[in-house]
Amino acid sequence: MTDVLSEVAPPRGTDDSLAVETHGLTKRFGGRTAVNGVDLVVPRGCAFGYLGPNGAGKTTLIRVLLGLTHADAGTMKLLGHSVPAHRDVALARVGAIVDEPRFHQHLTGRQNLQILAAAREPAATARIESALDRVGILHRANDKVSKYSMGMRQRLGVAACLLGDPHLLILDEPMNGLDPAGMADMREMILSLVAEGRTVVLSSHLLDEIERTCDAVAIVDQGRIIRQGPINELLAGSSLEVEIDCDAPATAQSLLADNSFGATVTVLEDCLHVSLPAGTPRDVVAEVNRILVTSGVSVYRLQENRATLEAWFLEVTSRLGDTQ
Ligand SMILES: Nc1ncnc2c1ncn2[C@@H]1O[C@H](COP(=O)(O)OP(=O)(O)OP(=O)(O)O)[C@@H](O)[C@H]1O
Ligand SMILES: [Mg+2]
Repeated sequence: MTDVLSEVAPPRGTDDSLAVETHGLTKRFGGRTAVNGVDLVVPRGCAFGYLGPNGAGKTTLIRVLLGLTHADAGTMKLLGHSVPAHRDVALARVGAIVDEPRFHQHLTGRQNLQILAAAREPAATARIESALDRVGILHRANDKVSKYSMGMRQRLGVAACLLGDPHLLILDEPMNGLDPAGMADMREMILSLVAEGRTVVLSSHLLDEIERTCDAVAIVDQGRIIRQGPINELLAGSSLEVEIDCDAPATAQSLLADNSFGATVTVLEDCLHVSLPAGTPRDVVAEVNRILVTSGVSVYRLQENRATLEAWFLEVTSRLGDTQ
């Protein structure tokens, strides 16, 4: 396999900058809507996280994208090709792992890839050795898969994807069951695939992993996308939290409650928590300090807490409530 993606002409009249594009994608199981009007936009060449709690509809969305189950409503494009109309062309350059990768346990890693390659284009067989090398299991390629650790199976799964020289990889919970070192390896592998110009969409309920691995994210809850975009932009739209230790928290609370900057002020264990709306300039933090000090409150500590994606995610999902 080369480090240069093979050329595939984009279909005419499509936005070639997108790896995945869906509009109003919906999938119901009886009365339950697992994927609910999803408008997903995944730019090419990034690591994109599909982030949501258990039951949010992550696996179902991936199954719909891959044509493993049909959509009840909506449209979708993979690598610029409409599916299901042009599924074969699109899927030729899509590699996917849904749930746990399944292999013949009594065969070696290499033999498993040989079987998979035989079902693909002839070039796939020529990619076996480099794919094994690429995911770091070449030295164990002659061992039976039954002897592989969970991490090695995941790597073999990625190697299987690489047989098709994919422009887009879709990985359902690739960190599942991996220990911290295995997760770090998987993260590094994903980032190196992106560095080659591929797009990696991964689903996860592990907020921290998404934050560390992905450039962009869609946050999904109860089948709906709540927010999506570059992680930096999403965080810029989150509230600014300020924690203040002072000698008179109750007084400080009433001083700040009557303000013009839209702060929500609470006292928790003698500590003042000031939550400022998204987009609040940092000058307001200095102003908060000034109000307290000029009113005779002694401020011992004032700390800005930059929102992590996790805090933001919890804030958004808890607002909606878990009614499923
Ligand atoms: N084949 C099915 N038949 C009926 N309901 C289903 C089916 N598959 C999924 N569901 C329901 O659809 C919803 C979404 O499930 P899905 O597996 O897509 O969630 P998920 O986000 O992948 O969850 P997890 O993090 O646990 O993997 C759940 O309420 C689930 O019970
Ligand atoms: Mg799932």
